[in-house]
Amino acid sequence: MTTKWEASDDIQEVSRLVDQEFDAEDSELETTLRPQYLRDYLGQERVKANLEVLITAAQSRGESLDHLLLAGPPGLGKTTLATVIAHELGAQVKTTSGPAIDRSGDLAAILTNLGEGDVLFIDEIHRLNRSVEELLYSAMEDYKLDIIIGKGPAARSITLDLPHFTLVGATTRTGLLSGPLRDRFGMVFRLDYYTPQELQDIVVRSAELLGVSIDEKGAAEVGKRGRGTPRLANRLLKRVRDFAQVKGVPDISQEVASEALSFFDVDELGLDIMDVKILKALAITFEGQPVGLNTLASALSEEPGSLEDVYEPFLLQQGLIVRTPKGRQATKKAFRHLRISD
Ligand SMILES: Nc1ncnc2c1ncn2[C@@H]1O[C@H](COP(=O)(O)OP(=O)(O)O)[C@@H](O)[C@H]1O
Ligand SMILES: [Mg+2]
Repeated sequence: MTTKWEASDDIQEVSRLVDQEFDAEDSELETTLRPQYLRDYLGQERVKANLEVLITAAQSRGESLDHLLLAGPPGLGKTTLATVIAHELGAQVKTTSGPAIDRSGDLAAILTNLGEGDVLFIDEIHRLNRSVEELLYSAMEDYKLDIIIGKGPAARSITLDLPHFTLVGATTRTGLLSGPLRDRFGMVFRLDYYTPQELQDIVVRSAELLGVSIDEKGAAEVGKRGRGTPRLANRLLKRVRDFAQVKGVPDISQEVASEALSFFDVDELGLDIMDVKILKALAITFEGQPVGLNTLASALSEEPGSLEDVYEPFLLQQGLIVRTPKGRQATKKAFRHLRISD
């Protein structure tokens, strides 16, 4: 065991980089940087190619676009893509989320206020409650809404016709969606982690929009450490900018970017403190043996759900951990990265 990571042992939680709650500054940053059209939406080439075909076909038939489900870990561009789709269609977009729609009446109000061809974006659609979800089925399938008016013996059921809208749903995991709901989407798009080159391009674009001077290699450094995630790459760019400003450096080079990112505890693979904690738990505490999700989560005082949705996908994609029938296990690459021998 070497000392490199021991130095950070006593560092307690720092602000999570990939969390889903943003402060006001972050959400402002996201709005400024959010691409509006497909041509500004970088990466995800296969998804974009598919979408272009679907959009063109729907438009030439004069029909609304099929309902689409976007799946992938936080920060990969699901919300952005939903707005991009609406802009490409020249349609209005209405945004809501699974947990925000408490009652069937809320959904009914949203649906009856849609216009022909509008896009309804439901974020975290896997968190819709049962009765709301069931109401959505006929709305998606037949553009009809069955509602009950009145109470007791006077209650009667009426059917409302809805405009032909397009539902775009987003979820961190398709596995969390019920079968009947999943089946009602015409297409499911799975967003992948971005390559370092794609993130570099995103950083260059964001730097231009923010008026930050960063050279190609500096942008590459931020891209490389962006954990495959545009939201994170943009936040890192902002931190690097702050760091350079404090140091009185006007132009951000690779050296400055690298120094800044190490300062903020983002390592060469883009792993932050929580990622490293997970790897260390698997490699050191559990001595490289397979560990069940719940055991790992309680060892880290984390929610099993967020381990699975937020942290694990990237570690899996990087080949730092594997999922075996007996649980999660650190790989040789993880041991090498932690600079300990297995
Ligand atoms: N393909 C992309 N090209 C450029 N920027 C992107 C892309 N995808 C996401 N972003 C940036 O990352 C931020 C987070 O994306 P968002 O759509 O909110 O992710 P999600 O909804 O999947 O959590 C956006 O504000 C946007 O600035
Ligand atoms: Mg989102």
